[in-house]
Amino acid sequence: MLRCCTVCSGVQDSTSLRQKTLFLTSHWYSKILTEMDSGGRNVKPWKIAVIVVSVIIGLALIIGLISYFLCHYQDRYYNATFLITNVPYDLQYGRQTTEEFRYLSQEIETMMSKVFKGSFLSRKYIRSHVITLSPDPGGVLVSVALVFKFASADSKATSWSHVNSVLRRRLETSSTFLNVDQSTIKLTELNKENGDNLINNFCGIRKEAFSFSGVERITDGQRARDGEWPWQASIQLDGTHYCGASVISNTWLVTAAHCFKA
Ligand SMILES: *[C@@H]1O[C@H](CO)[C@@H](O)[C@H](O)[C@H]1NC(C)=O
Repeated sequence: MLRCCTVCSGVQDSTSLRQKTLFLTSHWYSKILTEMDSGGRNVKPWKIAVIVVSVIIGLALIIGLISYFLCHYQDRYYNATFLITNVPYDLQYGRQTTEEFRYLSQEIETMMSKVFKGSFLSRKYIRSHVITLSPDPGGVLVSVALVFKFASADSKATSWSHVNSVLRRRLETSSTFLNVDQSTIKLTELNKENGDNLINNFCGIRKEAFSFSGVERITDGQRARDGEWPWQASIQLDGTHYCGASVISNTWLVTAAHCFKA
């Protein structure tokens, strides 16, 4: 307001002075001046920078939150069971480490992969892992763990029904030599802990190992067959391979003494 008074006092003509004064006192003029003031001279560049940066951070936060809800994925595990009718049960299916078990479970896992990779769930399907092959009067009862990556925003019920419908629809038409009895298909969701255990912890662990104690190992121990334990561990120091080791149980490895300083 001070500056505007100086402007007015410079005007000589009295009528125009009056007009200008009137104009001056009007609310609008002062408001425009004030705005010009704050827009033009008083706002320092750093203030503009702060405003721009805060707007950018705000936008980034909003976009981040939206994409978190839309694009954040979580693993979901399912237990699918069904009867295979054209394969007779073999006693070797009772142990996961036998060649017979591995052969049939590979066929089943390939079939699962075909079922889901050829469907609208192809990008969500991660893998399958046969848990058990059990005897059944009608053939072999299969229990297989399935892992999917669903967006966190997808409800559990919707995810389940998508997996279930694809499984039912496509197991029938998938062209493998395995015959699946449609009426026996069951799908249940596994919790994350069980799913993780079933999927990841097979390497180096016998099926019975979950209840292993030292005493059990000695009394119920069985001789391993050639190639039954196709794993070895890599002992690494700061991320570099240092020594190899053999897996002898779910908690123990055997390696050479020179790998460790006394
Ligand atoms: C999977 O489901 C079958 C029956 O539907 C059940 O007998 C079996 O115990 C389940 N397996 C797991 C690991 O939950």
